[in-house]
Amino acid sequence: MSTYVLMRILESAPRRYERGMRVLTLGRLEAAWERLAARVEPGQRVIDLGCGTGALAVRAARRGARVKAIDIAPEMLEITRAAAAAAGPSAAVEAVEMGVAELDREAPESFDAVLSSLCFSELSEDEQRFTLGEVYRILKPGGLCLLADETRPQGAAARLLYRVMRAPLVALAYIFTQQTTRPVDDLPGKLGRAGLVVESVRAGALGGLAEFVARKPEGRPT
Ligand SMILES: C[S@@+](CC[C@H](N)C(=O)[O-])C[C@H]1O[C@@H](n2cnc3c(N)ncnc32)[C@H](O)[C@@H]1O
Repeated sequence: MSTYVLMRILESAPRRYERGMRVLTLGRLEAAWERLAARVEPGQRVIDLGCGTGALAVRAARRGARVKAIDIAPEMLEITRAAAAAAGPSAAVEAVEMGVAELDREAPESFDAVLSSLCFSELSEDEQRFTLGEVYRILKPGGLCLLADETRPQGAAARLLYRVMRAPLVALAYIFTQQTTRPVDDLPGKLGRAGLVVESVRAGALGGLAEFVARKPEGRPT
């Protein structure tokens, strides 16, 4: 479950990141990417926040979407561009070096879907709040917010167990990268406070990777 901390170490070696995450998560992350990308329709305009090596962005593009894939790490974006090229000329992925803090540059109601996998756990609480506010603003009415991320379990005992199991990996990741991640707390509540309606949550009782499908309601002010 807390193997998601180790992604910080894998991120520092982008060429090994995707294969490493596949092994570490025993294929669960890949299955989440498939399920989220399957929600995207041909011809839609979508944005992937913190696209990393582009696994989710390329899956959405293969379904016929026009994808803007943003990340702050140029080495990750290079791999995204190569993966999009390998997927063929019809895979429309524009990989852009851009942080979520710059989402305010995007036009209102300009995307049919926002995708993001394992990026919110790298954002502070303020960044998460800002990003979800921007997600609401840039989504078209009826548009989808499709997220997968490491989440904190709900009950006090499960939380304690999760923290104890996570601690050695946090220390290890910090030694190698001087950075850490934190499981996202109460993502359904945060999505709701941003104005998005949560349609489904797929999460284990003991935390770990969870998937969220939320929608911007039709006919509400931007
Ligand atoms: C753990 S990786 C996940 C990559 C990919 N989405 C996946 O599921 O494999 C997190 C990514 O988020 C990016 N990231 C972190 N903070 C960001 C920010 N403020 N704005 C945009 N991208 C960010 C990192 O550079 C990294 O590529």
